[in-house]
Amino acid sequence: MVGWWTRRWRSPVSREATSVPEPTAVRLGAPAPRDLLDGSELLTRAELRALQLDRLRATLRHAYAEVELYRRKFDAAGVEPQDCRGLEDLARFPFTTKADLRDTYPFGMFAVPMDRVRRIHASSGTTGRPTVVGYTDADLSVWADVVARSIRAAGGRPGHKVHIAYGYGLFTGGLGAHYGAERAGCTVIPASGGMTARQVQIIQDFRPEIIMVTPSYMLTLLDEFERQGVDPRTTSLRVGIFGAEPWTEAMRREIEDRLDIHAVDIYGLSEVMGPGVAQECVETKDGLHVWEDHFYPEVVDPISDAVMPDGERGELVFTSLSKEALPVVRYRTRDLTRLLPGTARPAFRRMEKVTGRCDDMIILRGVNVFPSQVEEIVLGVPGVAPHFRLDLTRRGRMDHMTVVVEARPDAPAAQQEEAAHTVAQGVKDAVGVTVEVVVTDPGSLERSVGKIQRIRDLRPS
Ligand code: DLL
Repeated sequence: MVGWWTRRWRSPVSREATSVPEPTAVRLGAPAPRDLLDGSELLTRAELRALQLDRLRATLRHAYAEVELYRRKFDAAGVEPQDCRGLEDLARFPFTTKADLRDTYPFGMFAVPMDRVRRIHASSGTTGRPTVVGYTDADLSVWADVVARSIRAAGGRPGHKVHIAYGYGLFTGGLGAHYGAERAGCTVIPASGGMTARQVQIIQDFRPEIIMVTPSYMLTLLDEFERQGVDPRTTSLRVGIFGAEPWTEAMRREIEDRLDIHAVDIYGLSEVMGPGVAQECVETKDGLHVWEDHFYPEVVDPISDAVMPDGERGELVFTSLSKEALPVVRYRTRDLTRLLPGTARPAFRRMEKVTGRCDDMIILRGVNVFPSQVEEIVLGVPGVAPHFRLDLTRRGRMDHMTVVVEARPDAPAAQQEEAAHTVAQGVKDAVGVTVEVVVTDPGSLERSVGKIQRIRDLRPS
C-alpha cells in the first residue's frame, strides 16, 4: 500500500530546504498511530460518554448560575441543571439561537466577569447586530488544542509550515487557526485574506506544506498562480484544510487535481468556539469527526424540533462541554447534516459534510435548491470554471433563477452554448427546476477573499 503522504510527495527541494520529518506511518485507510493521538482520542466510546455527562452537567450548572437568559429559559421550560442525569436528558432543555445572542448584545451571555475574558470575536452579521463571543484563558487553550488536533488529523506535523489565509481580526478563522497551528508545533505564516498576488509569492518563497483557507479563496489563489504563469501543482503545498463555508465533493476533486494536494474539511462556528469543532481525517476523507469531548452534537428536525436518531439528516445543534466565558446550550447552527459513527477516530461520531444551511435554501417555485447542488453540477461540466453566482429575480408572479457561470479561459467559444445547456439540464435533472444559465467571460465574476456569497437576491421585497 502506498503511504498517503508519499503519494503526493513530489518536491525533494522543499524537503531538503525545510528538513520536515516525513511521516510514513499514516496510510490512507489505515488506523492512525497512537503517538499521533491525544488522551481524549484514545478513549473508548463509553469512557467518552461518561466524560461528556460530567462536563454537560457542569456546563448546565454554570450556564444556569451565571447567565440570566439561561436561568429564564430553563425556568420557563420547567427544567433545572440537576434534571440532567443522562445525556439523553439534554433534549428536555431549551434551544439557544443567534437571536438570543443578538438580544443580549454585546456581552449579556458571558458567564464570567469581564476581567476573565481574554479575547473577543464577532461574526460579521450581514443583517442587524453582529454576534459577539468571548473566551477565557482556559477557553483559548482548549480552542488551540482542538485546532492542533484537527491539523494533526489533516496530516500536519511539528515542523510543517502552515500558510493561514483565513481572515485575521474579529472573524474566528485566522486567529483560531493560528494558535492551533502553533500548538501543533508548526511554523505559522499569518497571511490573512487579501493581497492575492502577494500570497502566491509568499507560498512560492516560504514553501509551506499546509494551507488553511476558505475553498472559494483557494480558487482565487489558484487563478492567481495561473495568471502569474506558475503551475500550482509544482508548489510545496501538500495539504489544504478548507472550511468556513459549504463546499462539495466536486470542489474537493477540482482543488486536489489543480493543486495536487489532499483537501480536507474543517468545520466550526464562532458561537460554539470557531474553527476546530469538527475535522475530517486525511486518511479517510469520509466526513468530519466532531471533537465530542468539548462539543456535544445533536441533530434535530428543523420544523418539529424533535431530536433525530443518528444517520438522519436535520439541523445540527451544539452544546459546549468545557467553555467558561460563553457556554452554549443546544445552540441551533442552522447547518444541515447528519451524524454517523466514528471511523478514523472511533470514539468520536462524524458529521457528514455540511452542504447547506437552512438560511441558504432557495425555494424556487416550491422546490428547495441549495447552492451546493448547483456547485456539484457546474464543476462537472467541461468548458465552465468553478466560479458561479445565483441571481434570483421575479418575472410576473414567478420566482426565477439565473445561474451565471464563467467560461474556462481555455474553452472555445462554441463550447459555451453547449455548456449552458448542460448546466441547465443538470439542474433540471438533479433538482427538478428550470433555470436560465448565462456563461460569462473568464474573470468577469467577483472573486472571493473569504466566505463567498453565491446568492444575489434581486426580487422586490
Ligand atoms: O466560519 C469558523 C471557521 C473558520 C470554520 C475557519 C472553519 C474554518 P462563523 O463565521 O461563525 O465561523 O461561521 C460559521 O460557517 O455555521 C457554517 O454555516 C459555516 N461553516 C463553517 N465551516 C464549514 C464547513 C467560522 N466546513 C458558519 N462546511 C457555520 C460548511 C461551514 N459550512
